[in-house]
Amino acid sequence: MSVADSKVDVLLLGSGGREHALLQKLSESKRAGKLYVCPGNGGMWSRAQKVDLNAENPADVAAFAKEHNIDLVVIGPEAPLVAGVADAVSAAGIAVFGPYARAARMEGSKQFAKEIMTRAGVPTAAYKAFTDEAACVDYVQRIGGPVVVKADGLAAGKGVIVAQTTKEALAGVHECFSAFGDAGNVVVVEEMLKGPECSLLALTDGKTLIPLATSQDHKRALEGDLGPNTGGMGVYSPVPFVTDEELKAMVEIEQKVVDQLALEGITYKGCLYGGFMLTKDGPKVLEFNARFGDPETQVVIPRMQADLIDVFMHIDAGTLDQAVVEWADNWAVSVVLTSAGYPGSYEKGKAITGIEDTQALDGVTVYQAGTALNKKGELVTAGGRVINVTALAQSFEAAREQAYAACDLIHFEGKTLRRDIGLRALRGRDAWEV
Ligand code: AMP
Ligand code: GLY
Repeated sequence: MSVADSKVDVLLLGSGGREHALLQKLSESKRAGKLYVCPGNGGMWSRAQKVDLNAENPADVAAFAKEHNIDLVVIGPEAPLVAGVADAVSAAGIAVFGPYARAARMEGSKQFAKEIMTRAGVPTAAYKAFTDEAACVDYVQRIGGPVVVKADGLAAGKGVIVAQTTKEALAGVHECFSAFGDAGNVVVVEEMLKGPECSLLALTDGKTLIPLATSQDHKRALEGDLGPNTGGMGVYSPVPFVTDEELKAMVEIEQKVVDQLALEGITYKGCLYGGFMLTKDGPKVLEFNARFGDPETQVVIPRMQADLIDVFMHIDAGTLDQAVVEWADNWAVSVVLTSAGYPGSYEKGKAITGIEDTQALDGVTVYQAGTALNKKGELVTAGGRVINVTALAQSFEAAREQAYAACDLIHFEGKTLRRDIGLRALRGRDAWEV
């Protein structure tokens, strides 16, 4: 048996719908050996062994992986990446999926990402960074709203204030400097861009870049894209109105960023998530993330035709040019079921029923996120984003209908969802011309 065919024992870090989707794809690999998950969620523990470990402690993760002869560590969320878990695992001689800490700064510091983008010559919103609140206030008063204010560091998706007025912007500046701890030591003020958003995730080994299918998240809590920003309320793939020219431009931007990092001695290995605004002047970068998107993964990964363990091993080895990734010719829509109150405070421990009933529906997969098992072994809510219901179908409309049919079969107290996921896109690009 050659090395390329040998079984691979995998430790997957994370607990969201993204990780459930990754686990499913990893388990379908012909090379899948024993699967471990840390900490996982109520939908994952029947398929992978639960590990109790601090996933953000590089030394602990590396020691566990060594002790259990793990062959590949897959890092889902940003916090372990920024903490340097990939560095420690790699130093222990174990293959890892997810960038090293220096490369993860593309997500961990908005200022760093902006500087790389400037040196790479890629289009992004004009910006200014501040360490002093008074100077920042002065600047915002001078330029006035609309403007976007961002805490520099990781703020669990909450550190971005899209301010229509100067007053909102000033409140945002104060919030960023005071409410996000070290993440708010630097605050970035940037030009507000207009247009539809598009996420383009790409896999890279620091040289070769394989773009994945386009997708579009719905970040706002309420229908009609109103209310506060959330981690994501629903998503679809592909994005129907992206032109070939725009796609080419987004891929070129990501390749330029990877090349620029390499030029500066930073090999970016993993998933580079580009968040773009499709402006009248072409795609411009809103942000980069150093990981798969959540919920984007829940529509992109099911459409991907590839052996995920093979692809991840190629990334670690720096041989991504040898990997094969193809795409199903279908549509995916995923709707997030949340706990009432999310993204604010919400209750936990509510019994979840009906997931089995969705199995009767063609093309439907339920990815769990904020779920756990109670003492009696029953599935209960344990987070704000509870469940992702993904449907695959031959048309966008059919995928939407099927996803919502499945959503209606699942029940828990406080179940909340947006009924308009994908609706604006179905109306066409003009729906953004307001
Ligand atoms: P980020 O975490 O930087 O992607 O920001 C979260 C969300 O805020 C994005 O998905 C956009 O909806 C919005 N946003 C961020 N930056 C800008 C910008 N420069 N112009 C308009 N909207 C923005
Ligand atoms: N879907 C947004 C994110 O993963 O950051």
